[in-house]
Amino acid sequence: METDSFIEQVLISEPEIQTKVKELGNQITQDYQGKELRVVGILRGAFIFMADLIRNIHLPLSIDFMSISSYEGEIESNGVVRILKDLDKPINGQHVLVVEDIIDTGLTWKHLKEVLSTRSPASLRICALLNKPERRLVSQLDLDYLGFEIPNYFVVGYGLDFDEKYRNFPFIFVLKSEYYDQSVR
Ligand code: IMP
Ligand code: MG
Repeated sequence: METDSFIEQVLISEPEIQTKVKELGNQITQDYQGKELRVVGILRGAFIFMADLIRNIHLPLSIDFMSISSYEGEIESNGVVRILKDLDKPINGQHVLVVEDIIDTGLTWKHLKEVLSTRSPASLRICALLNKPERRLVSQLDLDYLGFEIPNYFVVGYGLDFDEKYRNFPFIFVLKSEYYDQSVR
């Protein structure tokens, strides 16, 4: 299939992403000097961003993953997300940095933050590649590290999917409307 046939607009190019990931990695490296990090990726959307990000963090670190239910209707109705796969290791006393692909309504991070806080980490911060503030349903959500603010488009690529596809593209783009069905999101 011709790539051009389904891309409406490339929103963030590969070099733009790579430059930003380096900046974020440098900032995190500075901020956590002398500390050890536990980097927690939220599956599946964050896996590519996390892989690039940790190669730009020059600190001792370990990784773990969590998977959260993505039934949007359910999430939006009560603000509670379901943990499909929990962390493998405890995080008490650890400096935890959660890595997310995108903060949209904010409900996932709000809930996850509450859940992880109860486990007594030494610190708990988030690094999200993308932020869609127009869709926010949670007020006063602190985002520690942020790549790009984007308008209210549904975007794919660089780990983000629509119906599990397009994660393998090295840039972030908007799908043409004929490839995009609101109901399957
Ligand atoms: P929220 O902040 O709780 O609304 O949810 C964030 C999650 O919704 C992300 O981790 C993505 O899995 C998904 N999501 C939100 N917006 C987009 C998008 O534009 N493209 C792909 N996935 C998205
Ligand atoms: Mg998804």
